[in-house]
Amino acid sequence: MASNERILILGSEGQLGSELSAQLQQRHGLQNVICTDIRNGHPNTERRFMELDVLNADAVEQVIISENVTTIYLLAAVLSAKGETNPMFAWKLNMDSLLQVLQLSVKHKVNRVFWPSSIAAFGPTTPKTDTPQHPYMDPNTVYGVSKLSGELWCQYFFTRYGLDVRSLRYPGIISWKTPPGGGTTDYAVEIFHEALKKGSYESFLHAQTSLPMMFIDDAIRATLELMEAPAEKVKERTSYNLAAMSFTPAELAEAIQKRLPNFTIGYKTDFRQAIADSWPGSIDDSAARRDWGWQHRFDLDALVDEMLNNLRNRV
Ligand code: SER
Repeated sequence: MASNERILILGSEGQLGSELSAQLQQRHGLQNVICTDIRNGHPNTERRFMELDVLNADAVEQVIISENVTTIYLLAAVLSAKGETNPMFAWKLNMDSLLQVLQLSVKHKVNRVFWPSSIAAFGPTTPKTDTPQHPYMDPNTVYGVSKLSGELWCQYFFTRYGLDVRSLRYPGIISWKTPPGGGTTDYAVEIFHEALKKGSYESFLHAQTSLPMMFIDDAIRATLELMEAPAEKVKERTSYNLAAMSFTPAELAEAIQKRLPNFTIGYKTDFRQAIADSWPGSIDDSAARRDWGWQHRFDLDALVDEMLNNLRNRV
């Protein structure tokens, strides 16, 4: 489906959007990728960018029509920790944007839609280890509730209208190009910045809190592979479990200390600990591996090397 695709990215300036848009531009050409966000995070980059509020349904519809959009990536969202500071706004942004995109995609015959779910869709009663694809799900953050509801809406639009909407339950994504953005897993991004700047880090999660994590390159590749898979291979129409590794703050600190021997870590937990405690420690993603051939490439050591090597020149 390469050459005649017209791709709209809603939320192109965030952690996923900024790296996904670069990959899509390489594959499909600068002209065919329309990046949009409420602000331009890369004003000097040569590309197509429009300032667009994802909650402005009329403006989103105009772009879909005028650009003959065939594929939409909806990446604008309020993450878990930030969501708890203003639950009603998090719900509005995360849900209204999805419902509008799903309806507009049916109305204008958009071929394919991507929408991210998260490990936050699981909750305290969900099995914590090797969490299966279809467990009991009782999220207790507004972000998680929006993700579980959104998954069901995606499935509804697939079965009711035949809309080819695809989704991944991302673990914590670790990347170096954008600053951390209000997530509970973001300690594992902050820690690298502070390790290089100050040589120490105070973790807001407990030393032994294990969470599923993934390096950004794997996350972007998973997204592209899912979106390029033949439709008959995409069997989960809520969202796919996706995994690479799990680690605790103590394990991450130890891996950093192997490279930066003077690095120290302290612990002072806050409200984010309860969020992390409600999520799984590891994920069974065998459905993604079986259905469309998912394989991760980065383990903890490779992730730590990439983060330190890339941030060293920036910090
Ligand atoms: N990484 C996200 C967060 O911590 C979960 O999807 O909010």
